[in-house]
Amino acid sequence: MTLKIFITTIGFSIMQLSSSSIMAQSVDVIMKEQYRPQIHFSPKANWTNDPNGMVYNNGVYHLFFQYYPEGTTWGPMHWGHATSRDLIHWAEQPIALYPDSLGYIFSGSAVVDKTNTTGFGKERQVPLVAIFTHHNPIAQKEKRTDYENQSIAYSLDNGSTWKKYAQNPVLKNPGITDFRDPKLMWYEPQKKWVMTLATKDRVTFYSSPDLKNWKKESDFGNDAGAHGGVWECPDLFPLNDNGKNVWVLIVNINPGGPNKGSATQYFLGDFDGKKFTPNSKDVKWIDYGPDEYAGITWSNTGKRKIFLGWMSNWLYANKVPTIKWRNAMTLPRELKLMHVGNELLIASQPVTELSKIQSKPITAENISATNSLNIAEKTGKGQFPCRINIVMNKIKDFSLVLSNELGEVLVIGYEKNKNQYYIDRTKSGKTDFQKDFSNRHVAPRFTNNAKMNISLVIDISSVELFADDGLTTMTEIFFPNKPYNDIYIKSAGSFTIKKLEYISLKSIWP
Ligand code: FRU
Repeated sequence: MTLKIFITTIGFSIMQLSSSSIMAQSVDVIMKEQYRPQIHFSPKANWTNDPNGMVYNNGVYHLFFQYYPEGTTWGPMHWGHATSRDLIHWAEQPIALYPDSLGYIFSGSAVVDKTNTTGFGKERQVPLVAIFTHHNPIAQKEKRTDYENQSIAYSLDNGSTWKKYAQNPVLKNPGITDFRDPKLMWYEPQKKWVMTLATKDRVTFYSSPDLKNWKKESDFGNDAGAHGGVWECPDLFPLNDNGKNVWVLIVNINPGGPNKGSATQYFLGDFDGKKFTPNSKDVKWIDYGPDEYAGITWSNTGKRKIFLGWMSNWLYANKVPTIKWRNAMTLPRELKLMHVGNELLIASQPVTELSKIQSKPITAENISATNSLNIAEKTGKGQFPCRINIVMNKIKDFSLVLSNELGEVLVIGYEKNKNQYYIDRTKSGKTDFQKDFSNRHVAPRFTNNAKMNISLVIDISSVELFADDGLTTMTEIFFPNKPYNDIYIKSAGSFTIKKLEYISLKSIWP
């Protein structure tokens, strides 16, 4: 993002008043507006960007998020807060962290300090500790280079209330203008905390015994991966590959994504507690669509790695045509490693908890059609939100077209000669609020299997494509003038679908 300078004089009491009056409004009215996601988290009102501080504790998934409670465009950042017991149904909570004299509360992470390394735990209460970037807009305006520093806060009531540490910041800026978005991890072999921090054109690893005193270990990446923009929001964790750990380093980048603007790249390699050694410096993307950014994973979920991103793009996030609120999160996704030929890749799938809102699949098998197939005719349903699963044995070019009676269309397709997927939203409805929105986006297919499976999760204003067991993922938002109500599969001449499943999804809002 382009960092704008906002100096607010609005008192905290006014901020609290306006967010609590929003809380008091009927959820029924607020959460049913045009474009409001029905199966994705979005705050009831106002602006959000990155997911922050995602941590699981005592049966509760915490999702904090970059939040500006006074408006629908980016402003002085707070940490908003939502909780869930199943990763699907979310309850918005009071704001967790407010800006203070050290600055705005930029992105960061949270952990469960099980052995009370910080000493914040009292009477055997296990502290949750959050680390975030204090971004000082006054220092930035004065053109100082040290306006971003890392600070901590803790909670002794499983995330309901937070106290900032009195000796903040815990990691001071050495003179790097982009010095932010700390992600914490406990490194068991050396019994220490590791912080992965975005430092302009690379990530820097720090270690600490107590989350308060930090030592620089190494940096990585100024000569690896994509560099079309600044590196932001990193994450570091192991994933299992046939019984051995492969380390994943996620690095978000803005701009410089595969389809313009912001996107999430990753590296696979080894980490020894000090240094990350990549298997390859080539660029790989977790999601090729334009609308997944700042994606990172939950901490304290054991071997399971659950990833969630912001469902927008800095190119137009401030201009999307929603009224009371702006922007939402992607579905939570489980990450796994998959071997494809000689390559090792990350595959993403919606978390299995999505089944909580799935109706019984309506299935049709071995369907033959010529030129086009009306999904509603085959399955009896054509409403959103829904999930559509398609298996094909003989692949040729095809597309799945969502449309309305105004002739607005969103096209999700596959081109055989390029072996690539695409999503075309050029005629999807409202597209002229920013010039970069109206585009066709492409993503590689990583296999040449004759058999193809794709799964699409379609909400009121977004689609997430998981192709080939999640090897290719694309997230895309759209804004039709009237809701789409038709879904067709199109292909030139005769074609056969081995299996088609339509699953309706129930709104997560009460
Ligand atoms: C990424 C980002 C972070 C920063 C936050 C500010 O989208 O720019 O680097 O901490 O957003 O809101």
